[in-house]
Amino acid sequence: MPDRILLYEGKAKIIYATENPEIVLAEFKDDATAFNALKRGTISGKGAINCQISQVLFQYLEQCSIATHWIDCPSLNQMRVKKVKILPLEVVVRNIAAGSLCQQTGLPLGEVLVRPLVEFYYKNDALGDPLLTRDRLLLLKLATENQIDQLKKLALECDRYLSEFFSNCNLTLVDFKLEFGIDGKSQLLLADEISPDTCRLWDNLETDPQNRVMDKDRFRQDLGKVENAYQQVLERVLAQKNPTRNREKK
Ligand code: TMP
Ligand code: ASP
Repeated sequence: MPDRILLYEGKAKIIYATENPEIVLAEFKDDATAFNALKRGTISGKGAINCQISQVLFQYLEQCSIATHWIDCPSLNQMRVKKVKILPLEVVVRNIAAGSLCQQTGLPLGEVLVRPLVEFYYKNDALGDPLLTRDRLLLLKLATENQIDQLKKLALECDRYLSEFFSNCNLTLVDFKLEFGIDGKSQLLLADEISPDTCRLWDNLETDPQNRVMDKDRFRQDLGKVENAYQQVLERVLAQKNPTRNREKK
């Protein structure tokens, strides 16, 4: 195989050029980081698991009329995606209080929010990805008024569709982070990944506050059995995507 041209290496993915200038190849890594890369480790098999979960969820959202960057997956840990200019924003949607929302507001862990909360964070490691206000978004020209409204609407739609999907997997979508990009035709596309790295997922079959955690919080908080949780999410997502597969197995 000819040497691939590396365009960008992030904490969880490497982006390679392809022969088509409008398409790039995202390779998902097993590397795991938390707390702005202060904590580093490896989650064995994570790259392939997150790539497969993301593929199912992007396909599902496309069916729900959400435009995404996903094209196909040439291997288990590689995804061909439309080349986009990623907006330097992390759009977080929260259904239940957890993580930084609890730390910064004092809301108790697990409190169900009256309505989903949409937040914007500045994707900037040097600044520690700070929370942004609408006025700061405009001040820094990170998005226009229209784009902010469009991003919020899209994020809430994704929340509705993903919450329903995960609920059918016996998982509660506590909160999640989305990234968006603009393609060559100025279209806003959902990008990056949707996986246990970027979502908090609680197992509806477990009540214990530690055992129910099925996402990267197991790594962040040293809860153990990280690989098992990721694998379990993949199996449930694949079974939900393809229910007959599961029935045939029984
Ligand atoms: P937070 O509670 O730490 O702000 O995280 C909110 C959601 O965003 C949670 O589902 C994890 C996800 N997330 C990322 O995907 N990347 C990040 O760098 C951070 C801080 C959170
Ligand atoms: N992805 C982030 C980082 O390393 C943090 C996180 O997911 O908690 O740095």
